[in-house]
This record gives sequence, C-alpha cells and structure tokens, in this order.
Amino acid sequence: MWLLEPCGLVWHSDWGIKVYLARACILAGMDASRRPLIGGNWKMHGDGAEAIALARSLRSWDGVAEMVIFPPAVYLSIVADELGDCAVTVGGQDIAQEAQGAFTGQTSADMLLDCGCTWTLVGHSERRHGMGETSAQCDAKVQQALNAGLNVMLCVGETLDERDAGQATKVVRDQVEQSLGGLKSLDPMRLAVAYEPVWAIGTGQTATADDAQTMHCALREMLAGRYDASSATRTRVLYGGSVKPANAAALLACPDIDGALVGGASLNADSFLPIASAAETWKASS
Ligand code: 13P
Repeated sequence: MWLLEPCGLVWHSDWGIKVYLARACILAGMDASRRPLIGGNWKMHGDGAEAIALARSLRSWDGVAEMVIFPPAVYLSIVADELGDCAVTVGGQDIAQEAQGAFTGQTSADMLLDCGCTWTLVGHSERRHGMGETSAQCDAKVQQALNAGLNVMLCVGETLDERDAGQATKVVRDQVEQSLGGLKSLDPMRLAVAYEPVWAIGTGQTATADDAQTMHCALREMLAGRYDASSATRTRVLYGGSVKPANAAALLACPDIDGALVGGASLNADSFLPIASAAETWKASS
C-alpha cells in the first residue's frame, strides 16, 4: 500500500521503499515548466570595468538553466548592454515601493525596466535585517514590480536564533504571507521564491540538503494553501546561502530545489558557471 508522508515522501509499506513524490512527478514530466533558475546577486561589489568583464564572461551561457544576474543599480545599463541578446538576463537588487516621486536614492520599476531589467529581488535579508525592511514594504514592492512587468524573486529566510528556537517555518510562513499579502493570484512564470537562511549567507555555512528540501517543500505547501496546488507546483523555489560549485549538485538534486541564488560565488565565472551547470546535471538526471 502506498502512503503519502509530509514533504512529498511516498512510502510503500510492503516493498519497504521510499521515493520522493516530487521526483516521481519530474519523471512523469509533470513539472517540466520548472526550468532551473540560477541567480547571481553581486551585492555591492566591483566597479564598472569589473561588471563589464564579469558580464562578458557569462555571455556564452547556453545551458538548461535560466540565468539572471543582479548587478549594483548603477551598473545595470552597462551590464545589460554588454549581455545584449544573449541568454543571460539582468535584474535589480531592490525596487522602490512607489512608482515615482521624491524618494531620494530609490530606483523605480520603470527605471529598472529602462535599464534592461526583467527581474528584481524583493526582501533580501540584507535589506530586511540590515536596513529594517518590513514584509509590508516587500508586499508593496512585489505589487510595483509585477504591475510594471518585472518578474519577482522574493527572498525569505530565518535567522539562526529563530531556527534554534524552532521558529524557522513560522518565520518563513509569516514572511511569505505578508510579503505576498496583496498578491491575489500566483503566476509561476512571474514570481520565484528564494529561501535564504540568514545564518547561511556569506558564512560558508550551508543548510544541509535535507533541511533545505524540508523548508522548500513547506514553502511549496504554503503557496499551494494560499493560491492553488497547480501554481505552487510550477513555482520555482531557489536556495541561497553559501552555494558553491562543491555543494550545488547536492542541493539542486533535491526535488523541491529549483535553482540557486548565489552571492559570493557569482562574482567569478569560474565558480558561477559550474553552479549553473550543476542545475543542468540535475535536469539531465531527473
Ligand atoms: P552567499 O552566496 O555569498 O552566501 O550569498 C547568498 C545571497 O545572499 C544571495 O542573495
């Protein structure tokens, strides 16, 4: 008899085997729309010449994974020009929650589009925790971006204290529910979620593949509960936090991890491209 456990595990009581339901779905071609997505968040690194050189070193990418890079705002245009019509696209690291006006230092959705962006990050932990950005602000930013025609990569993740207190799933759930408070329907082609545990960002400490898979599965269930199962199944959920060529394959092999949001290792094509290629390996072996 087949038994369904939480997080997609299917257990056959007579045969004594467990398989991932999600992997079975992949084998059945049910989530073919979940093309792996690899993001490179450059944060506040490099100068103009380095931005152009790094973009140039990614130009030849033609793998299975969709690749989007998030350079500093002031270099968006030159990076987009350098990439031209190659397969790599560009996104903003942040977006204003208003359309226009007297908001010194902010970058609007239309400005990002004007610079060649197709994506924007919203709610990165360095903004939530370093700059006090709230989920309510993220909600407004998600609306601005989607209404203007940008795709959104919503970042969520718990701190170490929150994880140690057993609050990780609750924190992530609250972030998802509040950051998507105004989103009435989920378009899997326009919104991706990046799970980035704060304690894993820039620390060299990565979530284990099992822990990441558990949270990704929970995230997908949150989306299914909030929207519908079909949209949730097709929405890409990325992992971020010290992703490197050495750990990418194990993370991307998890059935609910559909890509990676990479910080430090995205600053060099020699480390970023192998991560993107690991997604290709995952795809090929699924
Ligand atoms: P690191 O890969 O440097 O840990 O950064 C992750 C991140 O914050 C991506 O947005």
